Amino acid sequence: MKISGKDIVVTGGAGFIGSWIAETLSSENKVTVIDNLHTGKMKNLKGFADRIRFINADIRDREAVFEGVKGAELVFHQGANVIIQASIDDPKMNSEINVGGTLNVLEACRKHDVKRVIFASSSAIYGNTEKLPVTEDQDPSPLSPYALSKLEGEKWMKIYSEKYGLETVTLRYFNVYGPRQYPDSPYSGVISIFTKNIRTGKPLTVFGDGEQTRDFVSVRDVVNANLLAAESRKGVGKTFNIGTGKSVSLNEMISILEKLAGKKTKVVYDKPRHGDVRHSRADITLAKDVLGYSPAVSLEEGLKELLFP
Ligand code: UD1
Repeated sequence: MKISGKDIVVTGGAGFIGSWIAETLSSENKVTVIDNLHTGKMKNLKGFADRIRFINADIRDREAVFEGVKGAELVFHQGANVIIQASIDDPKMNSEINVGGTLNVLEACRKHDVKRVIFASSSAIYGNTEKLPVTEDQDPSPLSPYALSKLEGEKWMKIYSEKYGLETVTLRYFNVYGPRQYPDSPYSGVISIFTKNIRTGKPLTVFGDGEQTRDFVSVRDVVNANLLAAESRKGVGKTFNIGTGKSVSLNEMISILEKLAGKKTKVVYDKPRHGDVRHSRADITLAKDVLGYSPAVSLEEGLKELLFP
């Protein structure tokens, strides 16, 4: 899949996932990154910063978003408050960014006749589900202000698609991991924390018994899903799970890490994290059938890259 010669905006383009999307597209397209560098980082743009236009702005800044989006035909909307704990501490702030900011992006797209928006949603919208793997038609049950705001964003995508003819595609990311994921907060993705601790010889802390399961998907596959969503005609107006369709428990993942690292690691079991989902696994049939999505990076390969960068 090749996207070339297009004028493209990536909100949150200095963040973990957004920067990979921006980098991938920057060699053959005119890419604008909008990011306020709150959780995004300039160092994520290293190696391709000179190939993009960078706008240091918050997506709550309507004027900056309108200016950035002018002339674009494709927008990857990745910018968001992604810190779940921050959404719990300050739900209004979270909503202003994740809902208000999303509306700024959609309004800018409407005003400037953008053709298509790809929206980064989250598996968090499902909450605890009885049925696994989870399909897109499962009733959502958001457990945090963050999850609720992502669900609201999805609904705004649908309204803009139906009422204003803007082509929108929503991707519900499962547990994304890979290079550039920030490892230094207690709420960072578990893989970024575990691989860093193994590299630096520190113990791993498992919240609960380690038998909780997750569908860990490489950022490389997530980028690919975004490119497919940008090109697919059949995907317009639809919502897709983006995971691998497989899950592992944290204990299983630790065994894989130890095998790859060739050494045993000290593991400390702590009390379960409040609000944790027990099991999570995506049904990716729809993304396979409609977008032609097929995850290519195995967990072993993805972990190896992080252990031996
Ligand atoms: C949450 C969000 C998800 C988001 C992801 C990454 C929900 C339902 N899901 O997923 O949308 O994409 O964060 O930000 O809110 N753990 C440890 N030790 C650690 C760190 C984590 O045992 O040092 C455990 C957690 O308690 C959890 C599992 O590892 O059981 C995965 O945690 P994490 O990577 O933070 O992601 P989720 O909570 O699954």
